[in-house]
Amino acid sequence: MGTNVDAANTEGTGSALIEKNPKIVFVLGGPGSGKGTQCANIVEHFGYTHLSAGDLLRAEVQTGSENGTMIEKMMSEGVIVPSEVTIKLLERAIMENENDKFLIDGFPRNDENRSSFESLTGIEPEFVLFFDCSEDEMEKRLLTRNQGRKDDNIDTIRKRFKVFTESSLNVINYYNSKGKVKKIDASKPAEEVFEAVKAVFAPLS
Ligand code: ADP
Ligand code: C5P
Ligand code: MG
Repeated sequence: MGTNVDAANTEGTGSALIEKNPKIVFVLGGPGSGKGTQCANIVEHFGYTHLSAGDLLRAEVQTGSENGTMIEKMMSEGVIVPSEVTIKLLERAIMENENDKFLIDGFPRNDENRSSFESLTGIEPEFVLFFDCSEDEMEKRLLTRNQGRKDDNIDTIRKRFKVFTESSLNVINYYNSKGKVKKIDASKPAEEVFEAVKAVFAPLS
C-alpha cells in the first residue's frame, strides 16, 4: 500500500483516493525513452494497471471537453498542461479501476505536478522507474514511432527535450535525493531493457 502524506490537508476528490490508498510507481524518462513500451510489459507480467498521463490528456481532447482546446494547443507545443487538469484525469482513472497498483507514466513532469499531486492526494510513490536514454536515440525513435502523433515532428520534439531537461529532470533529482529512483539504461534493445525492468519488479511480487 502507498504511504499517505499530509492526508489531513487533502480535500475533494483526493479524499476518495486517500481511502483507496493505491500503490503507485511513477515511470519517468524523456520522450521516446520507451516508457509506454515497457509499461505494457510490466502490466503483462506483474499485474499493474498502466496510466499514461499523455494518453489521458489525448483522450480528454477527443471528448471535446471545455479544456480540450487548451490541452491540444499545449500538447502541440510540447509544454506541460496545468497540474489540476492532469491530476483530475489520473484520480478519475485510478478510482474507476478496481486494481490497487498503478504505473503512472509521464507524470510528474515538473515540480508543480509533483507537489500538487502530493498535497491533493496525500500519496507518495513506492519508487520511481527512470528510463535513461540519449537524445539522439530518443529522437530516432520518435521520428519513426508512426502513431500519428502531431507532436512527433522535429520542431516539437526539440521543445519536448528542452522541457524534459529544464523541468522534468528536477523531479527525478528530487526523488533520487530521497533514494527512490531505480534507473534503467533504456538505450538498449527493448528486450534487454525489460530484463533490467524485471530485475526491479520480480523481487516485489
Ligand atoms: P515513450 O512512451 O517513453 O515516449 P514509447 O514506448 O512510445 O516511448 O517508444 C517510442 C518508440 O520507440 C516506439 O515506436 C517504440 O516502439 C520504440 N521503442 C521503445 N523502446 C525501444 C527500444 N528499447 N529500442 C528501440 N526502439 C524502442
Ligand atoms: O508522455 P507523452 O509523450 O505522451 O506526453 C505528451 C504530452 O502531454 C507532453 O509533451 C505534454 O504536452 C503533455 N503532458 C503534460 N503533463 C504530463 C504528461 C504529459 O502536460 N504530466
Ligand atoms: Mg508514452
